[in-house]
Amino acid sequence: MGLVSIFPRPSRPPKAVGIVNFPSRNIIQEMRIAECFKEQIMIIRRLSFLVLVLITFVQSPVVLQAQSSCPPTAPDAEGPFYKPSVPLRDRTGSGLVISGKVLAADSCLPIPGSRVEWWQANPQGSYDDAHRGALITDSAGEYRLETDVPPPYYGRPPHVHFKIMAPGYSTLTTQIYPGKGEVKMTFDFVLMTVTGRR
Ligand SMILES: [Fe+2]
Repeated sequence: MGLVSIFPRPSRPPKAVGIVNFPSRNIIQEMRIAECFKEQIMIIRRLSFLVLVLITFVQSPVVLQAQSSCPPTAPDAEGPFYKPSVPLRDRTGSGLVISGKVLAADSCLPIPGSRVEWWQANPQGSYDDAHRGALITDSAGEYRLETDVPPPYYGRPPHVHFKIMAPGYSTLTTQIYPGKGEVKMTFDFVLMTVTGRR
């Protein structure tokens, strides 16, 4: 007969039925920690929601449009009649006023000191030196010139050639097409940086 049988292990007291068991101090502490954890989770969820709202707003079409509202001006053919080193002036005739700004595509900011050159056919339909000019944009990046209304030229619609130059930006060669009877045009030239970055 072994010792176990001589000194039997006392059996556990039966669980009391109908008596409320109060949680121990450790359990209360654990419950408090759990409550704090829940609150922290709620705060994190709220912050996550705010971040999500902000991201959604930043990527909204309105904001994206504002960010990409300065696409570079499409280039157009230079043609055979371009001449460099034309005189600085703001008038090569009368009847058509063209004005606007020179802007940077990457920032949408104006580019003061840009060189705006233009050339076009005279009212008789020939290219001549009287209808070539250049000007420099002012501190707001703005330009304004007046010229003769270009006629249709060898089956092409009336047009004025432009070449825009600014340090740090790719030179833009393009054309503007005034509509029939149009005497005033506003046109912004948007340049890309030399790296091609918008
Ligand atoms: Fe032309």
